Amino acid sequence: MKGIILAGGTGSRLYPLTKVTNKHLLPVYDKPMIYYPLQTFIDAGIDDIMIVSGKGHAGHFLELLGSGAEFGVRLTYEIQDEAGGIAQALALAGDFADDDNVTVILGDNIFQDSVKDAMQLFETGAHIFLKKVLDAGRFGVAEVDEGSRQVLSIEEKPDVPKSDYAVTGLYVYDSSVFEIIQTLKPSGRGELEITDVNNEYIRQGSMKYSVVDGHWSDAGTFDSLLRAGLMVQNKVNNTM
Ligand code: G1P
Repeated sequence: MKGIILAGGTGSRLYPLTKVTNKHLLPVYDKPMIYYPLQTFIDAGIDDIMIVSGKGHAGHFLELLGSGAEFGVRLTYEIQDEAGGIAQALALAGDFADDDNVTVILGDNIFQDSVKDAMQLFETGAHIFLKKVLDAGRFGVAEVDEGSRQVLSIEEKPDVPKSDYAVTGLYVYDSSVFEIIQTLKPSGRGELEITDVNNEYIRQGSMKYSVVDGHWSDAGTFDSLLRAGLMVQNKVNNTM
């Protein structure tokens, strides 16, 4: 299993914090944001990792994380020339994946718990991780059948969410994900959407899900960035 951290985008919702730096380098309590998704991979035993970032700040990621030796992992870097959506960024990791299964994490997603078990049980198709939230309309929202444990549909930032289940930014895919991305058309906002990738797996009947027990937060808005910091601070305090 290879790991891909997506750390591109313009960070427009955090402007002016992101005027001269990349969102994923901003502090979340005591560490740069990207340390957390990297740790999620390390805890899951994933040690062959690609970081996809925009060209403006790629050098900063290299300076911060280097070869990965400090963390006991091997890091590879890829550049997304222009922000064109999460699925477009993921497509750049096709050669790196080399027909292997991949776990993809958004660089602004912070998980308290290890997700190792679900990753290790993965065989084929796709697996997403859901979390019940109060503000589901900010996210991809999954409609599920809890009896049969099927994902029925995912809607990206719906006005009227069909459930409280946010789709977190952690996805496990088999290698067919790169063929699926080739078939996507840009969405209304001109991006290749990861939600369209996931809906194709649902259409094929090969999408599974699990629900995240521990705390989870994104960190892409002022409020969620603050919440992520507090979440990490509490975790630190609890374990001291
Ligand atoms: C992205 C995805 C969305 C997902 C979210 C998780 O949204 O498009 O489906 O729920 O990440 O953080 P974004 O935050 O890039 O708008």
